[in-house]
Amino acid sequence: DKLIEIASKGSENLLKETEEKLKRVLSEKGENFNFELPDTAYGLPLIYALEGFKINNLSEIKKFFEGIKGQLSQTTDIVTFALNYLYISEISVTLDYITSSQSEPFYGFLGDTIQRTLGVQLVDGRIPAVAVLLGRLEDDKLLSIVKELQEKRILTFLIGPVADEFVKTGERYGFEAYIVPVGTETEHTVFVIDWAVRASLIFGGQTAGDKDAIIDYVRKRVNAFAIAFGNLNERAVAMALGAAVLAIPVITDQSLPDVSIPEIAEYPLLTSEKELSKIVRKAIETRGLKIVVEKPPIPVSYGPAFEGERVRKEDTFIEFGGQKTPAFEWVRMMEASEVEDEKVEIIGTDWCSRYEQGGRMPLGIIVNVAGKKMQKDFEPVIERQIHTFINEAEGLWHIGQRDINWIRISKKAKQAGISLEHLGLIIMSMTKARFRSIVDRVEVLLYVDEKDVLELREEARKEYRKRDLRLASLVDEEVEEFYSCLLCQSFAPKHVCVITPERPGLCGAFTWLDAKAAYEIEPTGGNQPVQKGELIDPVYGRYSGVDEYVKKHSGGEIETINLYSIMENPMTSCGCFECIVAVVPEANGVLIVNRGYSGMTPIGMKFSTIAGMIGGGVQTPGFMGVGVNYITSRKFLKGDGGIKRIVWMPKELKERIKENFQKRAEEEGVPDLLQKIADETVCEDVECLIDYLSQVGHPALEMEPII
Ligand code: SF4
Ligand code: NI
Ligand code: NI
Repeated sequence: DKLIEIASKGSENLLKETEEKLKRVLSEKGENFNFELPDTAYGLPLIYALEGFKINNLSEIKKFFEGIKGQLSQTTDIVTFALNYLYISEISVTLDYITSSQSEPFYGFLGDTIQRTLGVQLVDGRIPAVAVLLGRLEDDKLLSIVKELQEKRILTFLIGPVADEFVKTGERYGFEAYIVPVGTETEHTVFVIDWAVRASLIFGGQTAGDKDAIIDYVRKRVNAFAIAFGNLNERAVAMALGAAVLAIPVITDQSLPDVSIPEIAEYPLLTSEKELSKIVRKAIETRGLKIVVEKPPIPVSYGPAFEGERVRKEDTFIEFGGQKTPAFEWVRMMEASEVEDEKVEIIGTDWCSRYEQGGRMPLGIIVNVAGKKMQKDFEPVIERQIHTFINEAEGLWHIGQRDINWIRISKKAKQAGISLEHLGLIIMSMTKARFRSIVDRVEVLLYVDEKDVLELREEARKEYRKRDLRLASLVDEEVEEFYSCLLCQSFAPKHVCVITPERPGLCGAFTWLDAKAAYEIEPTGGNQPVQKGELIDPVYGRYSGVDEYVKKHSGGEIETINLYSIMENPMTSCGCFECIVAVVPEANGVLIVNRGYSGMTPIGMKFSTIAGMIGGGVQTPGFMGVGVNYITSRKFLKGDGGIKRIVWMPKELKERIKENFQKRAEEEGVPDLLQKIADETVCEDVECLIDYLSQVGHPALEMEPII
């Protein structure tokens, strides 16, 4: 058990260093110094989650530190030892944070918001795993490992010299790129660990301090592994021990004997793989993951890690649409006999040489699909994915949809060999892959002559209008069934989203049509039909079938829900809601705060604090997580008085929903409602809010008491 000995040395070493740090900070700031790690409602999250002790000032750190210091020298229990090592690491990096705050370009502490933002990707498999890369590696080797992880859609955190190295290469990084440089010290690994552990509080509805349950949650639900390059020092070994408790195996490129610690993990503490080209595969295997990569046959990298990259004007080789040339994209359902499967055809005079010149071209994209299970309603669902399909290619960029689309191909992608046909190939092969159970045949036609594009665009526009009419007629009363979404149950086991035409999922990722299509695509997947049953209350939106379904799938926890109320038996929340609606009793109304807004709200709490109170599949009357699009639905809080209840929203949210909100406000007979709703430029506290509301004559003040 040499490794354990090494780990003990590492721990002694860190303990000493941290003790000195603590002394220094204490003498500098005093015991009563209060602090907050940025964007978290959970104190020092790891210590809070596992020990139930929320630390927000130096005397609390001191108290906790003294406690584990005593324990560390006595304990023979390896799990306790490993956890204590993580706690000291968390304290150590927190002390650094207090004295020097974070240093760009490293992310340092990882906040709650990003955890919530990534929630859906983590549950629906778009991010199948989380990796931590540590140690030292030459940049070309590092880049090829990072590419491999990116193509596998694995969210990767860089710690130590590799973080520095990567930033220096000038490659794109950040959460969108799936590659996040966290910090330069081994101890910074704890930022990733406490981020992972927070999932149990944010989504899992676990109680802080319920150590065994939380460890169990993380082990089962967070797929993470670490790869360490180069020599492992004592502290890295100790960190590996800590990670092992949370089922995070460490793969190393050093040759080391396999040491198993059955009390902690089913795999060896450290697994060796000397060949770099195999190391990622080894890590995935060790963690027991299956990761399928879908990639179209193109000469550039592909995957969501490349989705958010921009292609700027000066880097553009050629562009289509964007109001500069006529363009559109249109998916239409056809008979099987009318579709030649896997055909990609470019129609236009001299198209090849025109493409080679670069610049601009008109482009009409028609995607003909046929399939036994295809429905007309799924056309827009597939069409909306064209955006993602194209963006996921490195060096390709797409915005907008329908006849306001805009596509760019970068010079770099052109050099790598991207041709016009590849554009069609991407759409063809990804439509087939992602929609394989509803689509049997796909052909893609690309029109590049202006005359053709203009003509076909008129045809497409007629279809768009028809679809809009159909969409507007989709109301809860008219459809036969609703859909559930149980995707978040992999993190929030009791949470059920009920998705209706007029109430989209709270993460914003699923409309009723999306859920319906998803069900057809994968009948045993996360979206299931919910029989409406009897309409018990049309104002509150209570259906007998919904009640039955929710009761069954919340494990009996939730007896009944009202789809259109925040006050009485509201729908539960998981953790990845786009917005929170919260009652402001003094104003007789509600405020809505969106996930990206970090300022104060008039109820005296920030988004992260309110969010910390409501997740985990529990009903919390007075608070509710919702998707942005629900705000402008006719069914928004219908049981509580509708949009006239809204008294406060951040400016950015107002701006985002302006257009649809205006229509709804006119329907409600209050055309200037949006102006009457306060925002952070008007007030951040409740007294001032009330003054403003009475000054502008906000309708909520005249309504029945909300409580
Ligand atoms: Fe999670 Fe609901 Fe979104 Fe489904 S619709 S992913 S359950 S938040
Ligand atoms: Ni791209
Ligand atoms: Ni969720």
